[in-house]
Amino acid sequence: MAKYRIAVIGGDGIGPEVIDQAVRAAEVAAKLDATQLTWNTLPWGTNFYKKTGRMVPEDAWDTLRQHDAILFGAVGSPDVPDHLTVSGIILPMRRKFDQYVNFRPAYLFDGVPCPLKDKASGSIDMAVYRENTEGEYAPIGGRLYEGTPNEVAVQTAVFTRRGTERIMRAAFEAARKRRKKVTSITKSNALPFSMVMWDEVFKQVSKDYPDIQSSSLLVDAAAMDFVRKPETFDVVVASNLFGDILTDLSAMITGSMGLAASANINPERVYPSMFEPVHGSAPDIAGKGIANPLAAILSAGLMLDHLGSSRAAKAMRDAVAAVLKAGRVLTPDLSGKATTVEVGTAVVQAIH
Ligand code: NAD
Ligand code: IPM
Ligand code: MN
Repeated sequence: MAKYRIAVIGGDGIGPEVIDQAVRAAEVAAKLDATQLTWNTLPWGTNFYKKTGRMVPEDAWDTLRQHDAILFGAVGSPDVPDHLTVSGIILPMRRKFDQYVNFRPAYLFDGVPCPLKDKASGSIDMAVYRENTEGEYAPIGGRLYEGTPNEVAVQTAVFTRRGTERIMRAAFEAARKRRKKVTSITKSNALPFSMVMWDEVFKQVSKDYPDIQSSSLLVDAAAMDFVRKPETFDVVVASNLFGDILTDLSAMITGSMGLAASANINPERVYPSMFEPVHGSAPDIAGKGIANPLAAILSAGLMLDHLGSSRAAKAMRDAVAAVLKAGRVLTPDLSGKATTVEVGTAVVQAIH
């Protein structure tokens, strides 16, 4: 029997609410695949920060390394500045564990109302490969003459050839198993250093994949085309910030933030990979028991797939698809009246 140790960080707001349901569903699905999961729940996040001044303990990274994967909810609380919470846990985790592939699928499931008109289920089916360790998110910069009229803020983006090339290779490899098309998101018209190198690397890498149709699109035009003709996208490869923004958009055109899953992968498997919904802690609905747990459940499915329990992973995705298609047990973001726990229960029942 395959056995995996999973670190669970629910975090803040709706994070723990949706992660509880993801754990429940994964537990049931794993049994179908002779997989045993042990869960190590870590009470880290903003409450921990308020008590200790840190989002995670000092030995957190050593602790996390002893796990096969990490299941993460979200962090962020209205009473602590967001840059402190995210720079205390999620962003350093992606870098320390070299989780350079942020894989974010967006699929229009049967039964989900699409805000775009006349879209058939399955017609939107894209996979965004977001660079996850550098780019615009590099923690390089500073402030000078703070609080004075002469204040200066510098925030430097860092693009390395290695970092750019490896995310593009991941995207091309993925395209080989999909519809054989990669779109690179650029802004080389206005960013003549970083994005011109990005384009050059894309051209070079594409030569190794003559079987894949490749094209480049400016990020503003891409935003337009995600709305205008989303069915034309297959694999999309983007820098850290562009990928972040475009995946809120890809989530909404496929129904809800509450459906968007993601995987932060260290492909070399030197470090644990981390799985989390794309959405945040949603303070506006936290504690009400109405958050959609399906993004978290689908993320746990991506985790099982990464660990090698592909049967369990498929069972989870199929169960989510069945619950959506039936349309009886849905949270308010999908125009339903069900609670987070009721949706979790419906998924668990659909797995059986
Ligand atoms: P958000 O994703 O938390 O919420 C945006 C909107 O989507 C809200 O109206 C929310 O109610 C809705 N929503 C999100 N997830 C939902 C779900 N599962 N079911 C139903 N509705 C859902 O984004 P935000 O409001 O910009 O950010 C809130 C906080 O979360 C901030 O502190 C931000 O920094 C943080 N954040 C954290 C992560 C993370 O930890 N990975 C990701 C994004 C944002
Ligand atoms: C995401 C989130 C994070 C990001 C925040 C919380 C730093 O928005 O995972 O999409 O920008 O990467
Ligand atoms: Mn985001």
